[in-house]
Amino acid sequence: MKQAVIEGGFGLDRVVWREVEAAAPGPGQVLVGVRAVSLNYRDLLVVKGRYNPKMPLPRVPLSDGAGQVLAVGEGVTRWKAGDRVAGIFMQTWLSGAYEEGHGKSALGGAVDGMLSEEVVLGAEGLVEIPAHLSYREGAALPCAAVTAWHALFERRRLGPGQTVLVQGSGGVSVFALQLARMAGARVIATSRSEAKRERLRALGADWVIDYEAVPEWGKLVGKAGGVDHVVEVGGVRTLEQSLAAVRPGGQVSVIGVLTGLAGEVNLAPVLHKNLHLEGIYVGSRAMFESLNRAVTQAHLHPVIDATFAAEDIRTALGFMESAAHFGKIVLEIR
Ligand SMILES: NC(=O)c1ccc[n+]([C@@H]2O[C@H](COP(=O)([O-])OP(=O)(O)OC[C@H]3O[C@@H](n4cnc5c(N)ncnc54)[C@H](OP(=O)(O)O)[C@@H]3O)[C@@H](O)[C@H]2O)c1
Repeated sequence: MKQAVIEGGFGLDRVVWREVEAAAPGPGQVLVGVRAVSLNYRDLLVVKGRYNPKMPLPRVPLSDGAGQVLAVGEGVTRWKAGDRVAGIFMQTWLSGAYEEGHGKSALGGAVDGMLSEEVVLGAEGLVEIPAHLSYREGAALPCAAVTAWHALFERRRLGPGQTVLVQGSGGVSVFALQLARMAGARVIATSRSEAKRERLRALGADWVIDYEAVPEWGKLVGKAGGVDHVVEVGGVRTLEQSLAAVRPGGQVSVIGVLTGLAGEVNLAPVLHKNLHLEGIYVGSRAMFESLNRAVTQAHLHPVIDATFAAEDIRTALGFMESAAHFGKIVLEIR
């Protein structure tokens, strides 16, 4: 059985395929034949050693994968051979509030991930993928879609007629746009590319702003009435604009670090506008299951920009690094 590992140091050229012995599921475990995996910006940080420079190597990368149950270990009743499943991002966060320690079970980071022909996971660490989705589409969900779902529906539930702002056209933001439209919300988006702005409009964004041409886009949005909720993926250099864009009493979900983690931010609007500023770290299995029910009901399909063969993982990571993609990047394993 073949699996990819980050080995001998960090960098795209340190992701190598190796032949390993096929594992058998132990008690309470499930053997999954992985059919597709997807990339998240975090995977790029992991591979480059910027996520955790002290991560023990070798490590199987990628948090997101979907496949078919091949066999179950003793005592497993949740699954049977043939079931179509995806791994949950943090294997121990099943429901309730986030607790210290769940991060230690994050696939493709703290523990081995999904870029492998077969994986053995705990029976609790899987969800069924919606019946109308392919393995490629199912593999797009575990990190980006669950994160967007968590931000929009699990803290303060987004309702019809509210307005959401999403930043750029990556995995999390495109899911947030789709889910917000599904809930009857209005969406304002930002993107630096006219071609991507066109695609964002086609997905239902009402107003799309070029954040490079209009660096004070947050003030512009605020003056035009503001938004109820910002799905903040830009990080330290976009947060002030997000705080300017949101209405009094509104919500800013702090998710991403595309422009970096540390820097100076004027927090005055958080107080003066009585904002809800909240951190989001993917989500629990229960959130993933709620997302799947909504995706099924709405017959929603993830937006997949490109599909690579798994062997071409370095090329796929390079494509993500170029930020030329729109939505998700997927790799097929067989
Ligand atoms: N907290 C969590 O649990 C969690 C979960 C998932 C992701 N994240 C984080 O969220 C961020 C997005 O992840 P992703 O996987 O969706 O990334 P991605 O697919 O790589 O998204 C990249 C896109 O973001 C946009 N972008 C880059 N810089 C921007 C800026 N200054 N302002 C606005 N948009 C900008 C660009 O869109 P355009 O080309 O259209 O401009 C770019 O194509 C990353 O920082 C990731 O680590 C966090």
